[in-house]
Amino acid sequence: ENILIIHGPNLNMLGKRNKNIYGSKDLEQINNLIIQKGKELNFNIDIYQSNNEGDIITKLQEAYERYNGVVINPGAYTHYSIAIRDAIEILKIPVIEVHLSNIYSREHFRNKSVIASVCTGQISGFGYNSYILALEALRDLLL
Ligand code: DQA
Repeated sequence: ENILIIHGPNLNMLGKRNKNIYGSKDLEQINNLIIQKGKELNFNIDIYQSNNEGDIITKLQEAYERYNGVVINPGAYTHYSIAIRDAIEILKIPVIEVHLSNIYSREHFRNKSVIASVCTGQISGFGYNSYILALEALRDLLL
């Protein structure tokens, strides 16, 4: 199974961002845990990070042919990118939305996800473990 992980804007700054909210691991440490979990579940995992909305959309379009599942943390785009939402809507594979923080317990502007309704499901609030839980969910969905 080929799985694509997409990290959106500012996630490359993990480790330097507010640790109480996002945890102390940097993106490389999180990616290593993702890769380790992927091996356990027999997934081929590709990981992509971009701060750019258009690049994330292009990557999602590539996923149409190339991947069996997607895990995406769209960062702040979660709350207003209709373009990323539309790109996900086209896909016929499971797409899991993840967030390190619980977006419902934070500022009001983070309480809405415009992409949740086109995703298979959402995991929010478990730190880096949100990604691990998403991979486990994909394992069951793709059995
Ligand atoms: C985030 C939550 C977003 O509101 C924020 O803009 C992020 C990270 C999370 O993983 O908790 O950049 O997606």
